[in-house]
Amino acid sequence: MSRPKAKTSKITKPLKTTRKKRCIQTLRGMRDIIPSDQKYWRYLIKICEEYAQSYGFEPITTPILEERALFERSIGQGTDIVEKELFSFCDLGGDNIALRPELTASICRAYIEHGMVNLPKPLKLYEIGPMFRYDRPQSGRYREFHQLSAETIGSPEPIIDAEVIALSYSIFKALSIPVVAQVNSIGSQETGKIYRKQLLNFYKGKERQICLTCKKRLKTNPMRVLDCKMKMCQELSEETPQIIDCLDPESKTHFMKVLEYLDRFDLPYTLNSRIVRGLDYYNRTTFEIWPEKEAGRKASALGGGGRYDSLIEDLGGRPTPACGVALGLERILAFLRAKQPDKIFSSDSYDLYLAHLSELSTKKIMKYFDELRQAGFRVAYNLAKNDLRSQLEAANKLKVKYTLILGQKEIIDETLIIRDMENGIQETVAGQKIVIEMKKRLFQN
Ligand code: HAM
Repeated sequence: MSRPKAKTSKITKPLKTTRKKRCIQTLRGMRDIIPSDQKYWRYLIKICEEYAQSYGFEPITTPILEERALFERSIGQGTDIVEKELFSFCDLGGDNIALRPELTASICRAYIEHGMVNLPKPLKLYEIGPMFRYDRPQSGRYREFHQLSAETIGSPEPIIDAEVIALSYSIFKALSIPVVAQVNSIGSQETGKIYRKQLLNFYKGKERQICLTCKKRLKTNPMRVLDCKMKMCQELSEETPQIIDCLDPESKTHFMKVLEYLDRFDLPYTLNSRIVRGLDYYNRTTFEIWPEKEAGRKASALGGGGRYDSLIEDLGGRPTPACGVALGLERILAFLRAKQPDKIFSSDSYDLYLAHLSELSTKKIMKYFDELRQAGFRVAYNLAKNDLRSQLEAANKLKVKYTLILGQKEIIDETLIIRDMENGIQETVAGQKIVIEMKKRLFQN
């Protein structure tokens, strides 16, 4: 009898997976500000801070997370921002919270919470930081973006409205970006009621000529139809009644004065009765800052703002008039990057390149680096390289005027070679005199 053959089990090797690991990327609509953009970014923030402060605004920093109700009560339940775009969730304690979509509500909340009512008026506050809106990402529209928000609290005067527009102009002038303010007045709550009736009358029987969203808007927030981006809606909205014609006498006088101040400040503006803004808290003046038309560029507003005289009261504070503006920093950054005004960023560049030719010089080079840096020079170097050619190439790219070379001989002699990068002329100097020598060459001409 033949024995049954023992089953030979085939040892199967685990399959080698050749698939590469998935690269994790930024979330949709969010972006890194990479090193090559940082010089523009930092410059932009510096200008915003400088001008906000020179106009008398004081910095404030509010949390990125707030109670969701803050935005529902300020921006409004029926608005796109609150209805569709809030990043909102329940935290581990069950509280309903949201990432802020803008700063005005947070600044007003802070104003009430910290009893700033007792401070001299008008109180001017500004903040720069990230905002979050779950919008459909496209050019110039992100889910995380940054704003400078400047708010003047405690004055109903029309000159304040003109002043926040003037601040915006000053910032854009400093950045060499030509802009124009589009201004409007939406009057009082009463104006809104009268105008909404007129709008509904206008659209009666024309529902087929507008998009689906606008059809809904007619029921929830008819004024939003005016700033719909769809072509069909825009064309029809050209024919709508003008809100300016419904203004109550006080709002009309206020608006005329705002325009008078803009004229007095020599600030150009255009009247645009469709600037009704997508946030519920506005009354009277509303405005947006637009780039002057640039060929081929799909324009979007670089900033916007207006008056919000009842917001602080709606949030539980005393009746306090206020007016402000927010500028969108990513959109401004795109302009700065496109223009590459290198000369204004020269302060970010290096004064010197420190080159070394062997491993042995590492310790010495760090000593020189410290000494030169402490003396106020911006020094570039690369410890991972010690061949002269590639270091000179790097120095050329950085456009430094001089490269200091530290070779074997120089370590022994305690000297350094100064190479003029323009003409290639080299000169040896004593190491201990290098700071004096470079100050002479770079700072005294
Ligand atoms: P806003 O018009 O919603 O107003 O935003 C102001 C600016 O932020 C816009 O003009 C735009 O430049 C920028 N921005 C808005 N959404 C985005 C986005 N998704 N991606 C990139 N940039 C964006 C406000 O936020 C009000 N808080 C302004 C204000 C201040 N009103 C009174 N005081």
